[in-house]
This record gives sequence, structure tokens and C-alpha cells, in this order.
Amino acid sequence: MINKADRGFFLAGKEHMSEQRLAVYAPWDQRLLGTVAIASLDQAKDAARLAAESMSVLRAMPAYRRSEMLQAVARAIEAEKESLAAGIVAEAGKPLKAARVEVERAVLTFRTAAEEALRLEGQVLPLDFTPGSEGRWSLVRRFPRGPVLAITPFNFPLNLVAHKLAPAIAAGCPVILKPAPQTPFTALRLAELIYAAGEAAGFPAAALSVLHLENESVQALVESDESLRQVSFTGSARVGWELKRKAGKKTVLLELGGNAAMIVCADWPDIAGAAKKAVRASMGYAGQSCIAVQRVYVDRSLFHRFIAAAVEEAQSLVCGDPDEERTDVGPLIRPSDAERVTAWVQEAEDSGATLLVGAGRKDSLVSPVILTGTRPGMKVLDEEVFGPVMVIERFDGFDDALARVNNSRYGLQAGLFTRDAQQIFKAYAELEVGALIVGDTPTWRMDPMPYGGVKESGLGREGIRYAIEEMTEPRLLVMAL
Ligand code: SIN
Repeated sequence: MINKADRGFFLAGKEHMSEQRLAVYAPWDQRLLGTVAIASLDQAKDAARLAAESMSVLRAMPAYRRSEMLQAVARAIEAEKESLAAGIVAEAGKPLKAARVEVERAVLTFRTAAEEALRLEGQVLPLDFTPGSEGRWSLVRRFPRGPVLAITPFNFPLNLVAHKLAPAIAAGCPVILKPAPQTPFTALRLAELIYAAGEAAGFPAAALSVLHLENESVQALVESDESLRQVSFTGSARVGWELKRKAGKKTVLLELGGNAAMIVCADWPDIAGAAKKAVRASMGYAGQSCIAVQRVYVDRSLFHRFIAAAVEEAQSLVCGDPDEERTDVGPLIRPSDAERVTAWVQEAEDSGATLLVGAGRKDSLVSPVILTGTRPGMKVLDEEVFGPVMVIERFDGFDDALARVNNSRYGLQAGLFTRDAQQIFKAYAELEVGALIVGDTPTWRMDPMPYGGVKESGLGREGIRYAIEEMTEPRLLVMAL
């Protein structure tokens, strides 16, 4: 029997049900929120074929219509800000105030895509370089690559979906979206808003399918479906690189994990301010962001002051029910993740690290942890914790600080607190990361900026304009008249 919270999947705009269902639980209290229908591999292949067929309609859709449609989606998100935020709280366990910020960010993501849809410019290239090429010139314009398989994580169930769908609409690429199994309802609601805005704009419903899929079906699609031209994946490094190995001729964009680091130099005037920012950026949404501060390297001379301010800030955070306005730190997505995080902290302590703050775990809630005295080889330092855990260590000299940041498999974003221009440019040149944030934490992100990592952290860039680049390819027109 299907009740109100039981939903299907959208195949080319139509909601389908199936016997095979996925249960969705609230991370905070494990109550059953509802179920969604799982699509079969055959249905996914149908969706990919229909997506490819929709390209002819998309191609004929002028930029101003795609732009108007994206603006309409932005307005629709804004109009239901509170209910979208409530949905994110329920299924992702994100504290209400952070969920509201996520909704605002999704509005900006769609608005920016609406602007970028009007800026898909090209290039005029002279070609009269050698005798005999007189009068020759060319145009270079970017054309949509074709259908994208977009796979999104649980931690930003609205905005990280927006980061796939909005640039795809701007670029004219159809999408098969596979949302995270923990957070399917927000993705379904966003799809409904897109279909509604698309109807008025002449957007073909077949250009968007939202399918809940078994992992095996995803692997098979990536490996064998020829209609799909690109895989855009946000999630764990293990899964992302595995998909890349299977992707054959498809292009692959990977936004993967990190163990983001920041450096605090002796010249920074507001040590307590930097410590507070670090703690908030580490513990917000219980550290479940790829750019949550995990490692902090502080100049030896500031170490004790920094620690004192960080400990005080961590102890002031309100932990608990994500539905409460005051809550800063809510649950981890599953009790098993909370168990894993506390086990990693225990393992570090057993190997000699010192616990400065940390009151343990209750079900899926882990209270903020600050450790020091860690060493390479400890998971809290080397791996992506994806939990409310921060390590603070001291450094001796700027080269030592840079080497410590680079001593990681990952390289997404780094933060640097200094006003010394030479050190800023040295760090910019030498840190192996996708972005360096000076004067703030590595957790800072503005949605239009290029976003992505190096090393294990990924391949390619999102951030609307940059995602559009990934979803399009240059085509040359040579004029020899
Ligand atoms: C992520 O976890 O990669 C996204 C972080 C963000 O958008 O703030």
C-alpha cells in the first residue's frame, strides 16, 4: 500500500512507481520518512535514449528561453524556501539555519545559470598564417556534449543537485539524475519545479529524468550506455575513481572528498577570530562537507592561544535536533557513520593523540571533537572524516606549514590566515589544491566560483560557468571563401 510519503521516479517527466522500493529515514530520530520507487536498468536506458532524442528540441530552444526558465526555477525555489529547508532538515539532518542557507544558495545557482545561458560566447580566429591561407578565418563556438548522467550526494540535497541541473539546462544538455538514496525527496521536488518552469519555456520533459537506481544499474549505465556522453559525479573518491575507470568514451567530472587544511601565521591579528571561524567551518553540519576544516596548522607562537579560543568556541556550539532554530551541530547521516567517526577518534587517542574537546556519541549525534598530537598514519589526519572532528597542530616556519598541507592524498581547498603578500603568493604557487582562500577557511564557497580539486579530490570544475564548459565542447567553422 502506497501512502503520501511514498514516491516514484521521474522518467522523462512522468512519475512511475515500482514494486522495488527504497526506505528513507530521518538521520535525527530514524523515523521512516517514506519510500521511493527504484527504477530498473531497462528504464534507465529508456530514459537515456529519450534524453538523447530530446537534444533536437533542446537545440532549437533559444538562449533567452533557457535563461527565462532558469530564472523561473530560481523564483519557484525562493517561493518555497521554508518547505524546501524543512525537507532538507528532515532527510539530510541538516540544522535548520544551514538548510535555509542551502536554499538561498540554490536560488543563486539557478540565477547565475540564467545569466550564463546568455553568455555562451565564442571566438573568431584568423587562419591566414602561411602563404596560401589568405582570407581564411574561423569561428569557434561551444556545443552541448549530450546527455549527462549526474550523481549527487546527500550532504547538499538541493544545491549540489542544482549545480548539475542548472548548468545543464543553460548548456542545453539533457540529464539523468541519480540523487543520493538518503535524500531523494528534495531532488524530486526540485525536478517538479523544473518541469513546471520548463513547460512554459518549451523544455522537453525527456531532457530530465530523476531515477533512484541500484549501484549495479549505475555501473552498467556508465559502462555500456552509448547515449550518455558525460558522467558528472559528486561523492566519495573510491566510487568516483571507480566510475571513471568504467566510463569508456564518456567525459567524466569528479567532485570528490578532501581533508581540508588551513594555516594560521604569526602575523594574523585576530587569533580568536580565526579559531572561531575554523571551529564553525569544521563542525557546521557536523563536518559533512567536502571542504569542512579538518586540519589546522598554527604558528608555534600562537598555538596555545588558538587552542584555547577553539576549545571555547567548540564548547559553545548547540548540538541536537536539527529542527531547532538554535542548533549548530546536528546528526550524522547514519548511526553507522557516527560509530565510524567515534572509532577513528578513539583510534587516534589510542595511538597517542590528545583529546581537547569531545563528549562522545549518542545514536547519530557526535559532539564536536578537537584533537592534537596527531601523526600521519592516523585516519583523523589522513582520511576524509566527514564528521565534526578537527585536528590542530603547530608548525615551524612557512615551508613546514605548506609541506604539512600538501602531505595529503587530497587537494580540494585550503585556507590561509596571513597578510604577508609573499607568503600568499608562495602558497598559491605551491599548495596542491583547487582553491586557496586567504583570510578565511577552506570551507568558504561562493557558488559561481570554480570548484573542484586535484589529486584524489577530483577532476574538472563545477561552479556554473565552469560546469557549462565541462558540458560543452568546441566546434570549429572554417571559412575559406
Ligand atoms: C561539498 O561538500 O563538496 C560542497 C560544499 C559546498 O558547496 O559548500
